[in-house]
Amino acid sequence: MSDQQPPTPTDQPCCQLKRRTFLTRVSVILGAIIGFMIALPGIGYVLAPIFRKPKHKWRTVGKLDDFKVGGFVLVQYEDPSPVIWAGVTAKAGAWIRRASETEFIAFSINCRHLGCPVRWVDDPKLFMCPCHGGVYYEDGTVAAGPPPEPLYKLNVRIREGLVEIETEPTPLTLTTLT
Ligand code: FES
Repeated sequence: MSDQQPPTPTDQPCCQLKRRTFLTRVSVILGAIIGFMIALPGIGYVLAPIFRKPKHKWRTVGKLDDFKVGGFVLVQYEDPSPVIWAGVTAKAGAWIRRASETEFIAFSINCRHLGCPVRWVDDPKLFMCPCHGGVYYEDGTVAAGPPPEPLYKLNVRIREGLVEIETEPTPLTLTTLT
């Protein structure tokens, strides 16, 4: 008499094949889920700035009496959205002018070409960019050189004897560069 058992249904070739296919699919799906979970923080880091609104913040740049009616004064402030490792690069600047007793005009220091800091020259009353020769008039409009747009204007207000400007992350040039 033989003690050989009849093959159970799972030992049959057709069932072995199905089990192997099933395990392969489970492995692929689990691998994809784990891969997605590993990549998720990186994807979030890259895409987050697209959905984050730029921060606007009023910063005090001096007392009202610090500004005489006339030429432009350079003021420094902290960028409204610095990262903790930014260090000195978190500092931003603006040229601010007291046009009358109650009226102020402020421009971001960054050239609208590639962002170099522009310098105010009292005579001949122009903003000069040291990088590629961009020149702006005192109202911020382009006088010469490659900048495609006027200097970026910042809002100014006076509160309790202090001059404040509404700061925001360094604006990008919106038109096509030349
Ligand atoms: S960055 Fe100012 S002219 Fe190019």
